[in-house]
This record gives sequence, C-alpha cells and structure tokens, in this order.
Amino acid sequence: MMIYEKLRKKEATMAVVGLGYVGLPIALEFARSIKVIGFDINPKRVAQMQQNIDPSNELSSSAFDGCDITFTANPDDLKKAQFFVIAVPTPINASNQPDLGPVLSASRSVGQALKKGDYVIYESTVYPGCTEDDCAPVLEELSGLKTGVDFKIGYSPERINPGDKEHTIRTIVKVVAGCDDESREEIAKVYEVVIDAGVHRAASIKTAEASKIIENTQRDVNIALINELSIILNRVGINTYDVLECARTKWNFLNFTPGLVGGHCIGVDPYYLTHKARKLGYHARVINSGRYVNDSMGFYVGKQTVKRILEQGKNILDARVLVMGATFKENVSDIRNSKVIDVIRELTSFSMHVDVIDPHAEPEEVKHEYDIDLLPAPKMGSYDAVIVAVNHKEYMNYTENDFKALMCDDKGVLVDIKGLFRNDIKDLVYWSL
Ligand SMILES: NC(=O)c1ccc[n+]([C@@H]2O[C@H](COP(=O)([O-])OP(=O)(O)OC[C@H]3O[C@@H](n4cnc5c(N)ncnc54)[C@H](O)[C@@H]3O)[C@@H](O)[C@H]2O)c1
Repeated sequence: MMIYEKLRKKEATMAVVGLGYVGLPIALEFARSIKVIGFDINPKRVAQMQQNIDPSNELSSSAFDGCDITFTANPDDLKKAQFFVIAVPTPINASNQPDLGPVLSASRSVGQALKKGDYVIYESTVYPGCTEDDCAPVLEELSGLKTGVDFKIGYSPERINPGDKEHTIRTIVKVVAGCDDESREEIAKVYEVVIDAGVHRAASIKTAEASKIIENTQRDVNIALINELSIILNRVGINTYDVLECARTKWNFLNFTPGLVGGHCIGVDPYYLTHKARKLGYHARVINSGRYVNDSMGFYVGKQTVKRILEQGKNILDARVLVMGATFKENVSDIRNSKVIDVIRELTSFSMHVDVIDPHAEPEEVKHEYDIDLLPAPKMGSYDAVIVAVNHKEYMNYTENDFKALMCDDKGVLVDIKGLFRNDIKDLVYWSL
C-alpha cells in the first residue's frame, strides 16, 4: 500500500514540524481527514495548542474541533509518523544572509525518526537547491538511510497570507514537487485531500522552491519601484496616491502602492535568492536595489516627519510624536521584522519623544523584541505629529477632528503612510508617501 492510501486509512500518521502561522493551519486542516502529530520545539506554544489556542492568534478555538491531532514538544514522538511536513521559519541573520538554523535543526529531529518508506516534505521558503543540497544530507546522516531509495523527499511552498480570510489553505492552488515521479504523485494526492483549489505538479523540487521565492521577489521589486517613484514625486510636490489613481485607469498598469515592506516573507525571501545567485557567481542588481530601497523607507518616513515638524518652527528636541500601528502589516498581531520600528528609531535618533499604540500587537512581545513600551491609549492633546503607520481597521474611520484632538496645537502634522486620509485633511499639515 502506498503512503497516500495508508494515511487515508489511518494506518500511517503525518507529522507537522513547526506549528506557526503556516504549520498549525495545515496540521489542523489535514487532521480533519487523517491522523496528525503536531510537533513544535516551543513547549509553551504546544501547551497552548493542547488547549485549542492558536499562539499566533490567527485561528479560533473552533478550528481545533473534530481534529485527530496530538500536539507534542518531544521529538521522540516523531518516530510514530511516516509522512513529515516541515514548516519551520527560514529567517535571515543581521547581515541579511539566510539562517538555515531552524530548517536544519528540524531536519535533524525528523532524521532521527526516519524509517524506510517515509516521506519528508518541506514547506519552508528556501532558495532553489536547499531541500536537496542542504536538508537531505542531514536527513541521511541522522537516519543512515538514502534519499530517493529508502525515503522520499518533496517540496511544497506555502502561499497563505496572514490576516487574509479570502485566500486560505483550501482556496489557494498548491504547488507540489517530489524527488521522482512516483513521490510527486503520492505527495500531490495527499495535498489534494485538503486543497479544494487543486494541486500543481512542479517539474522538480528546485522548480517548486524557485516558484515561491520569485513570487515574493516580484512583489518586492515592484513595491520598490513604487517606493522610489514616491520619493521622486514627493520632490515634485505631488501625491503619489493621486498619481497612482490616474495611472491605474490604464488596463495594464500594475496595482502596487508605496509602503514599508516588513514581515518575514517579502522583505526576507529575496535575500535567499540573491544569496543563491551570489553562490553561482551572479550579483543580482535589480533585486538587491529593490531590497535597498524598501529597507530604507522607514528611515525616509522618519526624516520626512522631522522635516514637517521643523517647518512648523518647532524645536525638535521638545517634539512628541504618536505612531499608530507597530505590526508589520494591517490587522495582524505579528511584529516580526516590522519596518515601523525603523520609523521609530529614526525619530528617537533625533531625541524626539515617541509614543506607540497598536490594538493588535502584544505589548510584552513588542517590549521583548524592540524594547518599546506600547501605550494602551494615546495621550490626547499632546502630539506635534501623528504617524498612521499601519492601516488597521480600527483607524479607518478616523476623521480630521479625531487627529486634531491628538495634537498639542493647531500646527499638528499628520503623516499618513498609506495615503488613507489624503482627501479628508483640510487644516492639519499633511504628508503621505
Ligand atoms: N507566515 C506566512 O505568511 C508564510 C507564508 C508563506 C510561507 N511562509 C514560510 O513558512 C515558513 C514558516 O513560517 P511561519 O510564519 O509559520 O513561522 P512561525 O515563526 O510562525 O512558526 C514557526 C514555528 O516553528 C517552530 N520551530 C522553530 N524551529 C523549530 C524546530 N527546529 N523544530 C520544530 N519547530 C520549530 C517555532 O517554535 C514556531 O512555532 C517560513 O519558511 C516562511 O517563510 C510563511
């Protein structure tokens, strides 16, 4: 009997390794049809999941209902599984180089549990070649088994978008690859159990790895172009969003907007590709330029805010700024690699006093990660400038009067990164990207 059939008959078990934004939803989705072990190295997170709590705050407790899943932090429990899905983080280090630590450590945990006939599928975003050249040797070393002969490997990139209730695991086409035709078909059949939108069979593991990384690189480079245009249009003295509104009336104008590119995907994945390119002797100019522009935007916004406050004849050392939003994007609690922090750092480098609020972020996490104390509420009537850094739904209905009430005088500056309020502000000094 092949692995797909065994899983369906519950004669084999799937283990999902790494239960974060990606791993937990996929584990729960599978656990509605097959037997699943959810493994994570973080015992605190495991304890929460054992009580039907998603530590990433994406899923409600009803998502755990009717699932055949056992959560564990004990790597020995992985020995009970035959089909492994690895969804651990693939971050970059301080020098913007890939940090393969988690994916190699997860490979070691799976390697020590691996048996003949098992399958190991990587979902973590990596550069083309990582699964076969970096991860498979670890599996072989720990298990003493041979890839493609004793066990099969595969790759299936994850395309979910945190906070997006429309594009979910079931409704996004899943790209799937295996180390040979037979394994690709088996893996595809397993994913078809949970993917309504269908499965796309990739030519090879490297092809599937590359497809994911170019999706995010394409977005990054396109946003970088719009960010650069916004710097130019600011010098011209016109609003970028007004220009985009005009340009977008042409059928083939691409719909990108300027902004801070944070998070652990778009701002990170292109570095995996440029790393691979460099190893192959090619310096990726366009991708690196895009990264440079996008990574500079937080500091640019900070400087523009300082300029606007100075133009009001104020002493910058006495100025107080309110930053609304700290997460890496709207309506999520994730603060990792948030570029709002760059805005705040730029402001504090001028010795300004900065208050930060965010209805979605966890105050302890923000303190731990960035040493910033989130305020539960803004201090009314005290700010020289307000920066709407993240367009959380809670801010959507703000009026000019709401912003005025936050300012200390009638020379208040409103910095609106996403241009949300540009048609509504008449009296305040207004600036957007
Ligand atoms: N979050 C997204 O929207 C998204 C979308 C597409 C792809 N991805 C990719 O998916 C991968 C996972 O991302 P994520 O956002 O789910 O990460 P995450 O940080 O939310 O979760 C990772 C989980 O893995 C656990 N973990 C870390 N090392 C481990 C190990 N060695 N063994 C077992 N568990 C371990 C952590 O404790 C954590 O619970 C990354 O490669 C990311 O680039 C993420």
